[in-house]
This record gives sequence, structure tokens and C-alpha cells, in this order.
Amino acid sequence: MDWNLPPEALNALLSLLHEAHMGLRALWHALGLSTEVHGQPAWPFAQRLAGERLVQEAGHARRVVLALLSGLTVVLLWGLSWHWRRARAVLWGLTALLLLLTPWPEARLLLAPAVNTSLHQSPSQFTADGIVRGQALYQQHCLRCHGSDGRGEGPDAPHLPMWPPNFSGALLWKRLEGELFWRVRHGLHNRHGQATMPGFASSLNDTQIWELLDFLQAQAAGQTLKESGVWQSPIRLPNASVRCRQGHHSTLRHLTGQRLRIVLTDGTAPTVAEDPRLVTVLVGPSNDALAQADPECHSHSTQMTEALALVLGVPTPEVVGYQLMVDRQGWLRARGKPGQAAWSENDLVCRSNTTAATAPTSASPSSDGLESLIRRMDAEPVRLLRGGFPHGS
Ligand code: HEC
Repeated sequence: MDWNLPPEALNALLSLLHEAHMGLRALWHALGLSTEVHGQPAWPFAQRLAGERLVQEAGHARRVVLALLSGLTVVLLWGLSWHWRRARAVLWGLTALLLLLTPWPEARLLLAPAVNTSLHQSPSQFTADGIVRGQALYQQHCLRCHGSDGRGEGPDAPHLPMWPPNFSGALLWKRLEGELFWRVRHGLHNRHGQATMPGFASSLNDTQIWELLDFLQAQAAGQTLKESGVWQSPIRLPNASVRCRQGHHSTLRHLTGQRLRIVLTDGTAPTVAEDPRLVTVLVGPSNDALAQADPECHSHSTQMTEALALVLGVPTPEVVGYQLMVDRQGWLRARGKPGQAAWSENDLVCRSNTTAATAPTSASPSSDGLESLIRRMDAEPVRLLRGGFPHGS
């Protein structure tokens, strides 16, 4: 059998398994069988389901689905055999046949070793302030090995028993964030028990570790965009305070649900016209010219400028003139370069998981580039996976 699960079925399976995980953790906690660690209920087992395997190995995912279906059918047949005593021999025969013929998934692929923070979710909210604090901590504690761009080529790296990994690319998203948290706290060891990376439990508190992880992801996103021209994993718009013409001083997270266009400015009056299809948010220093222009929304957080420079993969001084498009769910989807005349579908640098393989349809020259970009952004929502499991909304 060589068919592949349709992406929707795989997504549904992963959501189901994720819910099962979370439900089990909540149940154990409610029954008083597990305690709270680092502010969240502990995962009580030494193993967890391995979502990452399901994403990587199509044959394995197929077997898991068939095993689930077969398990359900066995329960049904067993129930029927109690009701329908005369046919019991036949039903039990069918059950045995089904058990024999089911291509059971390998247990080795089904489970992965777990720690008590495996299912922990970051409480840090991906704020611009946190990312910038994480950057300072990175420079202090991690850069010597992991390097200034996170590629693993820091000054101390050549003297280590093994090279640190390259964070640009998918690595950080292949892991559960609770396990990354645990690894930074406790360090890493190779098969012989030799430390490959030191733990930071005694020098960094929980908040600092979560903020470091936010920084690592912002940096990895920017490096990936710089290298390959796309964000492989969806990246959220960093949060910061914002002032909008309508409404009070608030945060960007409060604007979730609307499409946003982020315009990085150096304080000169904006040249982009407002557009009814989206909310225009200027990011940059405030001054008289900008105040006069009375922009729709404005964030003058310098941390926001720095965080956006990181996710764009450009040095902060060069960030002026870039634009970003954010979808209604708060994901960064499209990038416009400085001086670019108009938007087109090619600016969509974070594409839907299910349509990643399809080439961008070339927009007909007469059509409105922004309109087709918005249409695609709306029609092809993205999902964040961590360790294979769906994450956040
Ligand atoms: C002494 C050098 C060194 C320092 C300092 C260091 N690391 Fe590492 N780090 C490594 C090495 C080597 C690996 C790969 C280890 C392995 O796979 O066994 C690694 C791996 C990692 C990983 C990947 C873990 C995974 O799941 O594969 C993360 C995340 C990480 N480091 C974060 C950090 C952070 C954050 C800091 C600073 C607080 C830091 N490291 C400081 C050497 C270092």
C-alpha cells in the first residue's frame, strides 16, 4: 500500500493526539497524581507520543491511522458479539483476522522520551521587549558557542566535543518548546554521558529562558528568510504597544482579527496611502512630522524595530522602508522590500503548509497585486507545528 494520508487527515490526526496529550496531563493533575513544575502541570510519564515522526514518515502516519481504525472496528465487533450471540464465532474470527492483517505501527516510532516540561507552552507571548532581552542574554551566555548569527560557529565552537547546530532552518520548530526549555536549563549530553552543552538552571530564571527561546526563533526566522527567501515556519508578529487614531493606547495583539500592514519608518512622514482592506501600522521613532500626519496606528517601540529587523534578517539600521503583511490570525505572511513599487503574490514569504509545493501563480499584470496577495493570504491560512503537533491559534 503506497497511498499517502491527505494533509487534512494528517492534521486531524495530529490535533487528536495533541488533545489526548493535553487531556491526559490535565486529568493526572486534577486527580492529584502530578504536581506543577515551572508554573504548569508536569507531564507525568517518561514517554510521550512522537508527533514529529508522523510528520516525517508518511508510511508510519498511514499505519497509525489504520491501527486506530482497526482498533475501533475491533471494539465494535466485540460489542456486536455480545448482542448477537449466534454469530459470535464469525465475529471473533473477523476480529482475529483484522488484528492479524492490520499493519501495526512500530512502537519505537510511536513514542519519544519525555521530560516533565515536555508539554509546557511558553508564557512569554513573543513580545518585542522579551525578544530584545533574550538577545542580550544570548550575547552574554550563548554566542561564544552558537555564534552571532546562530549558525553554530561561535569563537569557542571549534574546541567543543561537537559543533553546535545551525539554528537557521527548521530545527527549533522540530522540537517541542517545553523540551527546548528543559534542554537550555539542564544542558545536553551525548551517548556516553559527556556534556555537549552546559545547563543554565543556576544562572537563568524561567522567564529568561523563555525569552531566549523567543529570540532564537526570531533570529532563525530572519536567517532562514535571508538564505532561502521564505519563512519555513510561520512566525507571529512580535507584540508591542501601539497607539491608534481610533481607540486608546493598546498593544498590537489587540489588533488580531484584522489584516495589518506594518511599515518601518525613520520618522519621516509616511508615503504609503491608507487602505480600507487593512490597518496600517507605522513602526519607528515619533516626531513632529509623523504626529502631523496622524497615522492610523503607530508603534514607537525601539524594541519593535529591533525585533522586526531580526525576523527580516537585516541589520537594524537598514530596516527602514521594509513593509510586512500580517494575516487575521496574527502571522507574518508577506514582505515588501524598500523601494518596491507594488505588492504581488511573490511577496508571500510564509505560505500554507498544504500548498507549499504549488508554485506561485503569476499575477496577471492588470490585476491589483495587493488584492491577489490578500486573497491568497485569506484563502491559505498557515498552521504552526512544534514537534509535529499543532500549536497555538
Ligand atoms: C559551551 C558551548 C555552548 C554554550 C555556552 C551554549 N550552547 Fe547550546 N548547544 C551547544 C552544543 C554543542 C549543542 C548541540 C548538543 C547536542 O546536540 O548534543 C547545543 C544545542 C543547543 C540547542 C538545540 C537543542 C536541541 O534540541 O537540539 C539549543 C536550543 C541551544 N543549544 C540553546 C542554547 C542557549 C539558549 C544557550 C545560552 C543560554 C546555549 N545554547 C549555550 C553548545 C553550547
